[in-house]
Amino acid sequence: MRRAVCPGSYDPVTNGHIDIVTRAAGLFDEVIVAVLINKTKRSLFSVEERIEMLREVTSDLPNVRVHTWHGLLVDYCREHDVKAIVKGLRAVSDFDYELQMAQMNQQLSGVDTLFMPTTPAWSFLSSSLIKEVATYGGDVAHLMPKSVHSRLLERVAEQA
Ligand code: PNS
Repeated sequence: MRRAVCPGSYDPVTNGHIDIVTRAAGLFDEVIVAVLINKTKRSLFSVEERIEMLREVTSDLPNVRVHTWHGLLVDYCREHDVKAIVKGLRAVSDFDYELQMAQMNQQLSGVDTLFMPTTPAWSFLSSSLIKEVATYGGDVAHLMPKSVHSRLLERVAEQA
């Protein structure tokens, strides 16, 4: 069983994430989308809400499962027999930090990280930017699945 993990905050999931997860699902027997805590970010959705949205939008991918983990990614990989971490790279600006994490994870546990270039159509996308644009009333409908967009609009309205 070749099992990979696509870790991230997914706050919320975007078309860019779905692009990477879908392509990873074509390369591995099983892909786990793992919602992890990024200590440098403030979240808009609870982990449970993010999982719910991810399950909805990956329901057409039979070899994709959605999990969460509070702790180190490498410990998750060890416990779940995950052989590879798959990360999307949008631009050179992602590379520095992603390389650092990949090398740290490799050193801690031997698990390798594979970088997948994002489809150019989504290379400018990030959950953080989407949240900012939506907060000020910008149209982000085309950047995420419909169900996620509705929940984003609801949450933004609640917080206004
Ligand atoms: O979507 P993000 O916020 O860029 O994802 C970053 C994430 C959550 C994958 C990263 O912060 C992470 O792996 N967090 C789990 C804790 C951990 O293992 N930290 C050490 C990384 S070397």
